[in-house]
Amino acid sequence: SAQLNKLAKAAGKLYFGSATDNGELSDRSYVNILSNTDEFGQLTPANGQKWEYTEPSQGSFSYTSGDQIANLAASNGQLLRCHTLVWYSQLPSWATVNSGSWNANTLTSVVNTHISNVVGHYKGKCYAWDVVNEALNDDGTYRPNVFYNVLGDSYFALAFKAAAAADPNAKLYYNDYNIENPGSKQAGVVKIVKLVKAAGAKIDGVGMQAHLIVGSTPSQSQLQSAIQSYVGAGVTEVAYTELDIRFSSLPPTSSGLTQQANDYSAVTKACLAEKACIGITIWDYTDKYSWIPGVFPGQGDALIYDSNLNKKPAWTSISSVL
Ligand code: XIL
Repeated sequence: SAQLNKLAKAAGKLYFGSATDNGELSDRSYVNILSNTDEFGQLTPANGQKWEYTEPSQGSFSYTSGDQIANLAASNGQLLRCHTLVWYSQLPSWATVNSGSWNANTLTSVVNTHISNVVGHYKGKCYAWDVVNEALNDDGTYRPNVFYNVLGDSYFALAFKAAAAADPNAKLYYNDYNIENPGSKQAGVVKIVKLVKAAGAKIDGVGMQAHLIVGSTPSQSQLQSAIQSYVGAGVTEVAYTELDIRFSSLPPTSSGLTQQANDYSAVTKACLAEKACIGITIWDYTDKYSWIPGVFPGQGDALIYDSNLNKKPAWTSISSVL
């Protein structure tokens, strides 16, 4: 039967992919579906490449978790999206607890060292890197974090330049949530793209995380407008990088599952309609391993396979749109 990555590629996209995480890889039924390249042509490590894992103490690097997923993607013949380099969250305590002691010179060196080592380690293996993640508040202003507090908005170009130097062939992305439709935060992303380019740094893409809510998913035309705004700002590609569409209360009704299917098709259609949209990644493929219930208590069932690894109506709607 027609499967998602195969259909996406036939429609001119680069991949339909999934996030995954180390703890899940002992589940053989789960891994069998994850590794089927007709279904998923791309993987993203949900955690293993984050700063707290890759540089747990200053200057000491660890790639065990990230490599496990990079190696799985390589042995399956799947693309790898690499995630993420500069983010306020999941930082090791040495970077945040000591933040009062950083100055522009020391923190610049910390960022350069981190990026040159991590991107250097994965050189040639990443289709793309999420270089800066979640730098904006919902009103489009810069989120106060250790990087912004010490370096101001110069940390964007610093990070993109360091990543480009360490792997000239990786596509470099700015990645964030609530930027899937026009508004203050989307305008903030346009500003960041222009800022990075004006500083002479390379930025190739905008990643729209797309952690959406059933019934509140933007319309296809709103989704397309946001994509067009990023292309207008100067990136050559965009992607849905962490797609999931959750129920804000559980359990879902059958009409709720139909609504969820329609919301997934709106996102898929928007990507299909915009040439710059190169692919869609779901933030894991099954409700069994979704991050949503842990972070949004009482919410969930956000994915396209249920907890028993059976396809949901959302899977069918995506496959029929593709
Ligand atoms: C999430 C992971 O899925 C969880 O396992 C972890 O506990 C927290 O982070 N935006 C991002 C992702 O960019 O890195 C986050 O992933 C989800 C929100």
